[in-house]
Amino acid sequence: MKHLLPASSPLPPGEVLLCCVNIPRRLPEELATRLRRALPEEECARHARYGDEGAAGEFLCGRALLRAVLSTWAPVDRRAWRFALNPHGRPGIASPESPLHFNLSHTRGMVVLALGCDPWVGVDVERLDRSVRPLEVADRFFSPLEVDGLRSLPTERHRDRFLALWTLKEAYIKARGMGLALPLRDFSFSPDASPPSVRFEPSLGDDESRWRFERVDLDSGHRVAVAAKVPRLTVHLSRVDLEALASHVGLPHTAGAV
Ligand SMILES: CC(C)(COP(=O)(O)OP(=O)(O)OC[C@H]1O[C@@H](n2cnc3c(N)ncnc32)[C@H](O)[C@@H]1OP(=O)(O)O)[C@@H](O)C(=O)NCCC(=O)NCCS
Repeated sequence: MKHLLPASSPLPPGEVLLCCVNIPRRLPEELATRLRRALPEEECARHARYGDEGAAGEFLCGRALLRAVLSTWAPVDRRAWRFALNPHGRPGIASPESPLHFNLSHTRGMVVLALGCDPWVGVDVERLDRSVRPLEVADRFFSPLEVDGLRSLPTERHRDRFLALWTLKEAYIKARGMGLALPLRDFSFSPDASPPSVRFEPSLGDDESRWRFERVDLDSGHRVAVAAKVPRLTVHLSRVDLEALASHVGLPHTAGAV
């Protein structure tokens, strides 16, 4: 796994490894076949059930990346990792026992994995060219503070601000593991602050002083936000080459050979 990752040991508290892979809209069949070798039967079956080719490719690359990265840190065959879902659908490591926690996000052209030893970590990636109606969606889902902030900007800045807020909100609800069961209006981000800051309404039952957030511009087309419930957050970015990932997937497991 030498070409995949810079890190060779589990991460200390407060540190998150962000692994990202650029993926084509259509995965060549030969590449998909090699990536599928990292997945157990039930995940291959899930991959085969996707009706949309793009979504299928994102799922396949995400799970292949996750399994490859986990197996660089533990003497476990990539296919042997078992994941279990929380009541809101968030997968976590069920076996073998591991100190690691992860969250995955994908969008057209990109898969991102956030990994660390802190349990509350969330990530969201969005592409900048996705079609959005910022004011309409913000009015429906964002907090009044966020909507006011958005409306105060010139129109040409709406898309950028909207996506900054969207990725941060999504990273937070994913870190909580509750998805849209959390009311999106009940917390407000200030994305211009560095690092971004948040304000929670009492109804959210959470304490903003315990959360840290980072925004990462992966390339000219993709934006990422990371959320973690930690006193200090350091994000390490690792760009993983899809071909390298697929090649290693095709090799026998080499435990600890980093
Ligand atoms: C499911 C949800 C958690 C994320 O969905 P998404 O943005 O479509 O997808 P992402 O690519 O960012 O994340 C999907 C991954 O998150 C993980 N995930 C699934 N449910 C999750 C949950 N409840 N909490 C955290 N992570 C979750 C999974 O690993 C999934 O990938 P996989 O199925 O390939 O393993 C949820 O927030 C949702 O349905 N969002 C819809 C989008 C929306 O309206 N957002 C409003 C933001 S303002």
